[in-house]
Amino acid sequence: MDGVTVIDHPLVQHKLTIMRNKETSTASFRRLLREISTLLCYEVTRHLDLTTMRIETPLVEMDSPILEGKKLVFASILRAGNGLLEGMLDLVPAARVAHIGVYRDHETLMPVEYYFKAPEDLANRLVIVVDPMLATGNSAIAAMDQLKKRGASNIRFLCLLAAPEGIERFRAAHPDIPIFTASIDSHLNEQGYIVPGLGDAGDRMYGTK
Ligand code: URA
Repeated sequence: MDGVTVIDHPLVQHKLTIMRNKETSTASFRRLLREISTLLCYEVTRHLDLTTMRIETPLVEMDSPILEGKKLVFASILRAGNGLLEGMLDLVPAARVAHIGVYRDHETLMPVEYYFKAPEDLANRLVIVVDPMLATGNSAIAAMDQLKKRGASNIRFLCLLAAPEGIERFRAAHPDIPIFTASIDSHLNEQGYIVPGLGDAGDRMYGTK
């Protein structure tokens, strides 16, 4: 699918299966989400530009690769995005973090925005937006609108599961933003849940159901 990368690494797929299983406990779900997000982060940052820095090893001087440009921004769509954030920060501890509060009205399935906090200079940074579930796409689209309004122009979206309906809506609204996901599932049900999915990611992560 154009603009969508499915991260099919065997470890990602294995962990995802355990997360989907309804018998998996809250503690295991949370630990797996942290582990899987590290692997997803590895893939979503695969194409970052490098420059070199002059260093001295104990033996010789050399020009050695380091990341080019300003620190990355990881933007978490609250609340479930925070589950992906932790593993990503394990891998890129110097990243800046943005929080975007958007919840889904269970009746209308439309996004309601209640919070936005991000570093000021978004224009000069790669922003990787994280939310485990791309379902209707409404929350993700609203989050991207907010980020672009504040100057972000280099954005990637990372999720665990995506519904074809969500991908289509998201790509129509933001064709410039590539999507990275561990799986494209079958469809959305009438309540807006991804099928087969894993249920409500926030509830499973925090044990709120
Ligand atoms: N949000 C979730 O947490 N799960 C879904 O299946 C859809 C949206």
